[in-house]
Amino acid sequence: MTNVEALRAFYARYITAKGACRDPRIEDAFAMVEREKYLGPGPWNAYTLTGYVSTDTSDPAVLYQDILIGLKTDQGINNGEPSLHARCLDAAAISPGETITHIGSGTGYYTALLALLTGEAGRVTAYEINPGLGAHATSNLAHLAHVRVLDESGADAVLPRSDLIYVSAGATHPLNGWIEALNESGRLIFPLTPNRGLGGMLLVTRVAADSYAAKFICPATFIECIGARDDATGESLVNAFESNTHDAVKSLRRKTPADQSAWFVGDDWWLSTSEPLDAAD
Ligand SMILES: C[S@@+](CC[C@H](N)C(=O)[O-])C[C@H]1O[C@@H](n2cnc3c(N)ncnc32)[C@H](O)[C@@H]1O
Repeated sequence: MTNVEALRAFYARYITAKGACRDPRIEDAFAMVEREKYLGPGPWNAYTLTGYVSTDTSDPAVLYQDILIGLKTDQGINNGEPSLHARCLDAAAISPGETITHIGSGTGYYTALLALLTGEAGRVTAYEINPGLGAHATSNLAHLAHVRVLDESGADAVLPRSDLIYVSAGATHPLNGWIEALNESGRLIFPLTPNRGLGGMLLVTRVAADSYAAKFICPATFIECIGARDDATGESLVNAFESNTHDAVKSLRRKTPADQSAWFVGDDWWLSTSEPLDAAD
């Protein structure tokens, strides 16, 4: 085993332990996918809250840490935090053969992990709105016949019907197009993010025709998902997240009046602290 392979194996073990992953396939997947193939030539820029820090070295060993790496530093676009994605990929409970939609693929690192988890019997459709990044994702993922990358917005497109929609950019609301593309038992994972401060990764599961379980997986900050933000909702979400009560959320309700169980009320959707509606309700 080379040094980089040993480091990648440790990284996979570390980030999946940090992400409290239960499915051992998540560790296996992180141990297999070579992060350096998705990040362009080094040295790389590691993101911190006070700015980027150069790795100085182009040795890929440096990438096997729980750090964000700049993809387009002038636009603040980063390859996201490995332990956050490990936790979310575990929560996604991907079965082999599932149809997955990834919105905001960047250069394709987490798309490759999704592709590995669904396997060749599955399909992954990735959307990337930034043409330069989308082109890199297309070439980086060309070896995976069950993956296609579309150079367009995953907020405006009519999505394929999906078992999992995995969004890697921050939205102020679950788009109707995302919810309506979910198969029965389908999951939507997206960063629900306020205009400032921490938001959370929200897992929405379609449990019956128009009934949705919802729960927050972990805190999150992300750059914006273009076309999936509303300024007034983002402002209201600031207060909602500051109350630090979001762990009580249990279901997503749509197109019905909110009741006293509401944690947050959006335009035609709300998050409830009550269990999802029974199909019979
Ligand atoms: C935080 S970056 C993550 C990139 C990638 N998932 C990674 O971690 O390496 C978010 C990405 O979402 C893309 N994006 C933002 N809005 C989008 C939209 N409406 N449709 C598709 N991609 C979008 C951005 O261009 C950016 O590449």
